[in-house]
Order: sequence, then C-alpha cells, then structure tokens
Amino acid sequence: MSRVLIIGAGGVGSVVVHKCCQVPEVFSDIMLASRTKAKCDAIAARLPRPIQTARVDADQVDELVALMGEFKPELCINVALPYQDLTIMDACLACGVHYVDTANYEPRDEAKFEYKWQWDYQDRFKQAGLMALLGSGFDPGVTNVFTAWARKHHFDEIHELDIIDCNAGDHGQPFATNFNPEINIREVTAPARHWEGGKWIETPALSTAEEFDFPEGIGPRKIYLMYHEELESLTRHFPGLRKARFWMTFSDNYLRHLEVLQNVGMTSIKPIDYNGQQIVPLQFLKAVLPDPASLGPLTHGRTCIGCLIKGIKDGKEKKYYIYNICDHGKCYEEVGAQAVSYTTGVPAMIGAMLMLTGAWRGAGVFNMEQLDPAPFMEKLNLHGLPWTEVIL
Ligand SMILES: NC(=O)c1ccc[n+]([C@@H]2O[C@H](COP(=O)([O-])OP(=O)(O)OC[C@H]3O[C@@H](n4cnc5c(N)ncnc54)[C@H](OP(=O)(O)O)[C@@H]3O)[C@@H](O)[C@H]2O)c1
Repeated sequence: MSRVLIIGAGGVGSVVVHKCCQVPEVFSDIMLASRTKAKCDAIAARLPRPIQTARVDADQVDELVALMGEFKPELCINVALPYQDLTIMDACLACGVHYVDTANYEPRDEAKFEYKWQWDYQDRFKQAGLMALLGSGFDPGVTNVFTAWARKHHFDEIHELDIIDCNAGDHGQPFATNFNPEINIREVTAPARHWEGGKWIETPALSTAEEFDFPEGIGPRKIYLMYHEELESLTRHFPGLRKARFWMTFSDNYLRHLEVLQNVGMTSIKPIDYNGQQIVPLQFLKAVLPDPASLGPLTHGRTCIGCLIKGIKDGKEKKYYIYNICDHGKCYEEVGAQAVSYTTGVPAMIGAMLMLTGAWRGAGVFNMEQLDPAPFMEKLNLHGLPWTEVIL
C-alpha cells in the first residue's frame, strides 16, 4: 500500500498511470500532476479507478515541495521531460521521497545528455536513505536489465553489446515522432557515439547504417548508429565491454523530412527573434507536429527492441539475442496508447513497484543494471512486455 506521485501527463505518463491502476495492492493512492491539469483530468477520466490530479510546474522546486508536502508520496515517478530531472530530484530530497525516471538530465540550451549531473546526487540520496532509480524505461531501462540478465545467466565475460531498437509501426502521418518531438529530434540529430577499444568514437549523425534481420516476421530493416545514454552507464558497470553500440531504425520518409527540417533550420535549439519575440525553432516545430499521445489510434504494426551480445561462456565464444516485441494496436486496446509510450511506461511502473515492495532497495542513485535483474524480468512477462532469448 503506497502513495505514488506521477509527474508528466504525456504519452508515457498516461501509460504509467494506467499500469499503476492495474496493481492496486502496491499503488493504493495515485496522484498525476503536470503543467496542464486538464491533461491529467482527461487521463483520469479514462481510468478504471479514481486518482487525484494537480497542476505543477516541475521546473520550480518550491512548487514540487509544496505538492509533495500536501500529498505525501512515498515515491515519485518522473515522466515529464529530461529538463525536470534535477528539480524533481531536489524536491524528493527535501521531502524524503524515492525517485524514478526514464531519461537522463539534459540542459535545455545544449543538446547534450550524460549521467554526470544525476550521478552527482549519489551522496545526497545515500545520506537521506533514499533511492533514485535512473532510466527505468525500455531503452534505457529494459535494455540495461537484459544486459545484466545476460551477464548473470549466459556469459562469464561480455565483450560486445549492440542495442537495437526497431519501430516497425506506421502511424500514416507524413512526419511525426513517437515520443516528445523536441527530445526525439535532439537525440536523433546529435552525433553518433559508440564505445570501442576503451574509448568513445564519434561519427556524424545517421552516417553509419547496417541491415538487421528482425525476428518473428518483422524481417530485414536498415538500422542507424546513434548515441544513447545507457551506453554510458553500461560501459561503466560492465568494464569488460570492448564494444558497445546503439542502433535505431528510421523510415526513409522520416529521414527525408528530418533532413529538410534540419536544412532549413527548424531543428535548431538556438533562440531567434520573430516579430520581437524570442522563439526556439525546435520548440515551434514541436507545437505544429502531431502530439505523440494522439498517435495511439493511428499506429499499427510492432516494435522490436533487444540486445545482441557476444562474449565468453565456459571458455567458448557465445552469441546471444534477447528481445521484446510489442504490438501498437494491442497497446492501444489495453491503455489507449501506442507501443513506444507503452514500452516506456510499463518498465517505469515495474521499477517503482520493485522499490515499493522492497525487491529493489538501496540508498543512493542507481542505474538499472546495478540491481538484481530477476524480479524485473519476471514482472516484464506478467505486465505486458514478455521477452524471448535466442542462442545464435
Ligand atoms: N527510456 C525510454 O525508453 C524512453 C522512451 C520514450 C520516452 N522517454 C522519456 O519519457 C518522458 C516523457 O515522454 P512523452 O513522450 O510522454 O512526452 P510528452 O508526451 O511530451 O509528455 C511530457 C509531459 O510532461 C509535462 N511537462 C513538461 N514540462 C513540464 C513542467 N515543467 N512541469 C510539469 N510538467 C511538465 C508536459 O506537460 P504539458 O503537456 O502540459 O506541457 C507533458 O504532459 C521524456 O522524458 C522522454 O525522454 C523515455
């Protein structure tokens, strides 16, 4: 029986609150708070049980502290934007609340994401006897747990890790992103970076592509090398990794639109003067693109996200692939959201559940791979994200 505060009433937040409602024995009292209270109320109206809603500007620590002081949550799930990670962590420290998020902190004025800012909270969370769980989405999140599981059960040494994220779904829109457009476009247009031979290697965005044959009828797709935040924590926590890369599929249509938008300056995060007003082109672009939360009924097809791992077991070379396939239409039927929101929201709920039930407990700041993968893997199968492993 626990009180949980969920911050962010977007595509992911809607899934988190639906999934928490399905587990009343753990999440007995739920509050959904966001910048726009009407969005929280619209989500609450679709839920099978009552929750509380509130307006909060999560950039303001004092507003968060006031809300937490009133609602008195045991744990806060942050599914607002990466810009709010530090203010929400500050408020959790001030109010004695455990913390979970799905994306690492990014400063607004620089498209740069790294764990340093949040790892710096280690001593403060430890001293307060509180736990902060970082990156409890799918990637980061499940991909970190998949790697920890593989290391524990299938390998003595892991040498190579390829995280491969495929969205084989189609929403029928000329151009739309499956999660927050501003965050998505900042991520995709950043230079690619991978770990090889003990150092980071940077290459221009979307300049390296290969083909990967996805399982269960999805078939061959072009995958593009990118940088993703779990590479930073996984190379730190599995120092035997010689190579670690992150790949994502994009349709030719998505890439064509993105190239034009970039060429005309619409993806820039540098403010410009427009009729005497400062606007950020990427934020303006977000305002005219479809809201990812609206793509649920339009999206068909499946996602397939997994880890391809090479290493040594019992003195022999081994190759192993572990993945989840998620159907956009089935997610929509269950919680009214497409699979990209679903695959992020379910692990956020599971991470919170494991902390609240004591299966994952600790004081300090944790990445997912630092905790026992077993209970998380069990809950994935029970709560809508079953996984499959293949020895290749
Ligand atoms: N790990 C993973 O696998 C993974 C995958 C996808 C997404 N993510 C992360 O999940 C998070 C949510 O993504 P999403 O697609 O749900 O985004 P979204 O649809 O844009 O929703 C974000 C929500 O946060 C709210 N918000 C923004 N700034 C706020 C503030 N200052 N105070 C209070 N609320 C604020 C927004 O409120 P308004 O609508 O009122 O502005 C919106 O409802 C992002 O951090 C994203 O990076 C992680």
